[in-house]
Amino acid sequence: MAPTIFLLLALLSIAESTADKGSGLKLELIRRRVSPGNVSPMVAKSQIWPETSEFIVKIAVGTPSTEVHAILDTGSDLFWAQCRPCVKCYQQTNPIYDPSKSSTFRTLSCKSPQCHLRGSGAACSGTDTCKYDYGYESGSTQGELATEKMAVTSRSGATTSFPEVVFGCGHNNSGTFNANEMGLIGFGRGAISFVSQIGPSVGGRKFSLCLMPYNTDPRISSSLSIGSGSEVQGPGVITAQLVRVSHQTYYSLTLTGISVGKTLVPYSMSGPLAKGNTILDTGTPQTLLPKELYGRLAAEVRRHIPSKPIDDTLCYKDNLGDLVMTLHFDGDVDLRLSTVQTFNKMPDGSFCFTAMGVDDNDALIGNSMMANFLVGYDIDNMTVSFKSTDCTKIG
Ligand SMILES: *[C@@H]1O[C@H](CO)[C@@H](O)[C@H](O)[C@H]1NC(C)=O
Ligand SMILES: *[C@@H]1O[C@H](CO)[C@@H](O)[C@H](O)[C@H]1NC(C)=O
Repeated sequence: MAPTIFLLLALLSIAESTADKGSGLKLELIRRRVSPGNVSPMVAKSQIWPETSEFIVKIAVGTPSTEVHAILDTGSDLFWAQCRPCVKCYQQTNPIYDPSKSSTFRTLSCKSPQCHLRGSGAACSGTDTCKYDYGYESGSTQGELATEKMAVTSRSGATTSFPEVVFGCGHNNSGTFNANEMGLIGFGRGAISFVSQIGPSVGGRKFSLCLMPYNTDPRISSSLSIGSGSEVQGPGVITAQLVRVSHQTYYSLTLTGISVGKTLVPYSMSGPLAKGNTILDTGTPQTLLPKELYGRLAAEVRRHIPSKPIDDTLCYKDNLGDLVMTLHFDGDVDLRLSTVQTFNKMPDGSFCFTAMGVDDNDALIGNSMMANFLVGYDIDNMTVSFKSTDCTKIG
């Protein structure tokens, strides 16, 4: 089992400026490997996953600042960090952010409109403090909503600060977080998400991500670009219109089927397709498919790969052939995937399929399957764009 590799790049903050309306940000993301003890049981039991991965953004919170390393998550809205005093905090390597030591921390009251931004999880009964309660499949966080000064450092070394960003000061946090993950930063479509809050001051509520494949040297950082300059355009770009679903957080598309080579595996064998049945979620490593679809897909993948899988998994010692799979989305959007996206190279040298079956009618595309795509998310235009890219070469 590979140890958790943690790399701190000492970036000099050369200059600090408040956001210049219209100029975008280019940040780096660190890939964090999670050991199996931290993987939710659902994920651990159904396949061999020696480790899995999350992508981390660094944000300086407060005055003087504490550097918070937060999981980048397009599947939720709230930015929260572990916060003193802890009712219950999971173990954390770096110091826990302490609002009593920051001169720019302000708790929000229930009367404040910021307390009620969409996606905030505000729970205001019987108290004047804007408390929140936020849950995930595999964890939860409770605390109060507050505003704080936040700053990010671009690849160029320039630091940009934002005076009053709403975030969750989490006093009661639990889940499958490891000691290097100090919180989670929501990049969903909701009004409280970090990108929705800072977007207007950096040229729009849009961002792009280029995530490294799983087995890349973790010292190479992935890229996050926010605001102007983050548009994914030009030849070879595939753009899909996002579906408006009742859940205001998600980046949703309608997946109609998946081809393995030339063989189409339809999403559903019975009944009509639900619009927006699939979300893009960078906070989840694996792609999660309804069990029944996964079963049909797995059978087709086995048929197309020349070598034999290890036991009854979809892991192979070698020779995946040149398997090409295609995700078919509504609106004639076809996303071609190579084995870089469909198989992760494990530390033992084997290759494991990046999707698994779950008890759900909807699908979720995890971060492994988006590797080596430059993916542009545009909340204002309700689009998502994909461009096949070598993410080690983007800077
Ligand atoms: C902390 O959160 C857990 C999980 O939501 C909850 O069961 C517990 O009651 C909370 N503890 C306090 C003191 O609020
Ligand atoms: C987004 O929409 C605006 C206004 O409708 C348009 O000018 C712009 O070109 C669009 N951006 C992209 C990347 O499609």
